[in-house]
This record gives sequence, structure tokens and C-alpha cells, in this order.
Amino acid sequence: MNYIIAPSILSADFTQLGAQLSACESAGADWIHVDVMDGHFVPNITIGPMIVEACKRVTKLPLDVHLMIEKPERYLEAFAKAGASGITVHVETCPHIHRTLEQIKSLGCQAGVTLNPGTPVSMIEPILHLADLVLVLSVNPGFGGQAFLPETIGKVGEIRKKLDAIGSKASVEVDGGITANTLPLMKNAGANVFVAGSAVFKYPRGIAEGIKALRECVVS
Ligand code: DX5
Ligand code: ZN
Repeated sequence: MNYIIAPSILSADFTQLGAQLSACESAGADWIHVDVMDGHFVPNITIGPMIVEACKRVTKLPLDVHLMIEKPERYLEAFAKAGASGITVHVETCPHIHRTLEQIKSLGCQAGVTLNPGTPVSMIEPILHLADLVLVLSVNPGFGGQAFLPETIGKVGEIRKKLDAIGSKASVEVDGGITANTLPLMKNAGANVFVAGSAVFKYPRGIAEGIKALRECVVS
């Protein structure tokens, strides 16, 4: 299994973004996770394509863009042009999720679908075959630094089983409250991509040590 550590810049120091991305890269991060919030689908407002474009100029790492916005189809092209390597949309925001995933692929990006802790797996079942990545939110999206919701562990297992059943090699990503304590629970359930904001950028001994602590959970 190819395990991916994806620091979320939501918890970065934005006055030092370039330096912090370099620190992630030298510490062996695999992807950079970018949380886009619109103040409608989630209560918080964060960043847009401009920052993705700025990240693209300072890091070679793939940019994993998580859209927590209403009507995400309006912005797919802008994020793809800005340099997103993958774009993940919430099923709750996409009445035409089948079309939206195809749109993401047609822009040359990996197509991801995600669901809130309160949304059942059955909502994404009909389009699982189209997804390159399925993201399980392990907190209610909107803010970094929230406590991990253990009731989402079962969902990871359920999704991995359904992907296996249709012969899909899609990644299962987890996001929210991921630390060296919770990561192993999600790994054992079948996740292979681990997003971490606080556990990287707010790690008491610094970014490199934070990434190292997470990496140690996935090396056998
Ligand atoms: C939650 C975001 C996460 C967030 C995770 O709304 O989607 O990516 O940055 O932050 P931590 O790791 O601090 O829970
Ligand atoms: Zn996220």
C-alpha cells in the first residue's frame, strides 16, 4: 500500500507559507492539502485559486484541493488552471455528482468525492467507480484543530470494501483530527491518504517532527 501524508495548509502561518511548504517538502510530505471554504457550505471562509497558484510556484508536491463550497462546478476550471492535481467535491453540494466528477477528470485532475460525518455512504455508492479518491471527513468540516470523531472509522472500512468489490484502486483519504494516535485507527480501517493540519503546522517540535511522527505510523 502506498501511504500518503498530506499536510493541510489551513493550519499554516500564512505570512510564512513559502517557507512552510518547503519545510513540508524537505520533511517528506507527499501532497499538500488545500482547504477551500466559502462561508456558505461551511461557516468559515478561507482561500481560493490565487493561493493554489502561489503554492504551485513554490512546491513540486501535488496540490490536493478540497472544495467545501456550494456549486463547486463553477470553480473547477479555475482550480485546475491554478495547478490543482486533484479536486475533491462534497456530495452534499453536487446534485449532479456524476457529471461533476467527469468534469474534474476532463480538466486533467484526479476526481475526488467526499461526505460529511452525517452523510451515509449510500450517497456516493452509485458513483464510486468514477472516483479516483474518496475522502472521509472525520470532523465536521469548517475548522482545523477539532476532535476526531471515532464513529467515522467504520465508514472508511465500508468504503474500502465497496471499492474492492468493484475492483477500484481509488485512494481512501481521511481528514480531521488526524494525529499519531488516530492515524493508525484509520489506516487499519483501510485509509491510505492522511490529511493533517494541526498535527503538522502546530506540532510543538515543528513541522519536520510532526510529519515524522505521522510517517512512523505508516512504515511497517
Ligand atoms: C476541516 C478541513 C481539514 C482541516 C484538518 O474542515 O477539511 O483539512 O485542515 O485540520 P486538523 O488536522 O487540525 O483537524
Ligand atoms: Zn480538508
